[in-house]
Amino acid sequence: MQEALVLPSGVVLPGVRKAGALSPKRPAVETAGLADVFPYYAGFSFDWACHQLAQHEAELVDSGTVLDPWNGSGTTTLAAQSLGFNAIGLDLNPVANVIAKLRAQEYSQVEDIGRPKKRTDVCVEDDPLAAWFAEPTVRRIRQWVKVGEATGGPTRDLLTVALFRAIRATTKQFEGSNPTWVKRAKDAAGTLSIASDELDAIIERHITFVSARVGSQSSTRPISVVTADSRNMPIASDSVDIIVTSPPYLTRIDYAVAYSRELALLGINISSDRSLRADLMGTTLIRRQATDSFPFGETASNLLSLIQKHDSKASSGYYLKQAQQYLHDLTSGLDEITRVCRNSATVHLVVQDSFYKDVHVPLADICIDEAAMRGWSLKSEPKRFPVRRTLTSLNKSAQIYKKGDVAESVLTFSRG
Ligand SMILES: C[S@@+](CC[C@H](N)C(=O)[O-])C[C@H]1O[C@@H](n2cnc3c(N)ncnc32)[C@H](O)[C@@H]1O
Repeated sequence: MQEALVLPSGVVLPGVRKAGALSPKRPAVETAGLADVFPYYAGFSFDWACHQLAQHEAELVDSGTVLDPWNGSGTTTLAAQSLGFNAIGLDLNPVANVIAKLRAQEYSQVEDIGRPKKRTDVCVEDDPLAAWFAEPTVRRIRQWVKVGEATGGPTRDLLTVALFRAIRATTKQFEGSNPTWVKRAKDAAGTLSIASDELDAIIERHITFVSARVGSQSSTRPISVVTADSRNMPIASDSVDIIVTSPPYLTRIDYAVAYSRELALLGINISSDRSLRADLMGTTLIRRQATDSFPFGETASNLLSLIQKHDSKASSGYYLKQAQQYLHDLTSGLDEITRVCRNSATVHLVVQDSFYKDVHVPLADICIDEAAMRGWSLKSEPKRFPVRRTLTSLNKSAQIYKKGDVAESVLTFSRG
């Protein structure tokens, strides 16, 4: 018999696995909640998000609001929608928001998307896609983009995600052992030239795949997916009931570099315009404004002092600044969470510990400490899930340092 999640009110969500010891980590293959349409880095499991929200039916059923301030591919907003709750998802990465919207839209009718005519009036000067593709290939991709612009609405998002997939599939050679550090061609000779008919066939295959996946979707409630900064949320104070979220971790994942190809499709060149990359939490760029005088709790301060004292190159310089900047963004996000939440709110936070060289980065304990400074206490014991494959386990130069195991933790907070 197919598994299902049954809410106290009797609402049934078929196909959702039983709670048990369900981890927030997305399984290697997850099709629930359209997770396979564009598997987003560090996305959590749809089934897990459904179970987190299902416990709060009483608070949410009429007019309560769910928020995910680091919404990524929109797992939280989709889970909330599937259960019939209002939800807002914020993310500063516009790529994430295209995917989140696609997953939550209703496609009662997927319009036919025909091959674009070969036009010459498409400008490809200074096109950011030229970092991977030769000019005729860029031109053909832009002709497909124009088809989406002419159609608008959900079909445009569908085509955009199909193009994200097609670009990923054809540019694998620019991914290194760390899949989040996407390289660019060294020069024009290193770019890819794909014959127009071959490229069209690839794009059409991805349109067919995405159309088939979203075709069965029916939405119960419109949700709100907004491109916005978790350090400055466009949300009224005291208005949110439940948060289910996962911020970037202190693992040097640069989301703008990881999604540089998709951002290029959206017209954003992260090499010439560094503003988005600099603003994303966890960025490896150091901003001009200093963040070193920001007051942190004891656990975060201890970590900073261990990094500063580390004898490896740049620990007391660049790496200290990067960690300070990360902690500044994390705590600014927690300040905003505190402002927008009602007094009765519950916050479910998924975070992963990591290592800087051989220094343990206790992100879960840092969050517990920083949340306590803002009036939040743990509502239940943290749930910890061991993490088997981390980015440092893929990074050869990082392997010279002896490290312990790391865990992903689910922290549940309430006020008082
Ligand atoms: C761990 S991912 C969230 C994944 C999400 N739970 C899912 O299932 O797809 C963290 C997200 O935070 C976003 N982010 C980074 N800095 C941000 C900021 N300042 N404001 C809002 N979102 C930000 C990143 O773009 C990324 O999508």
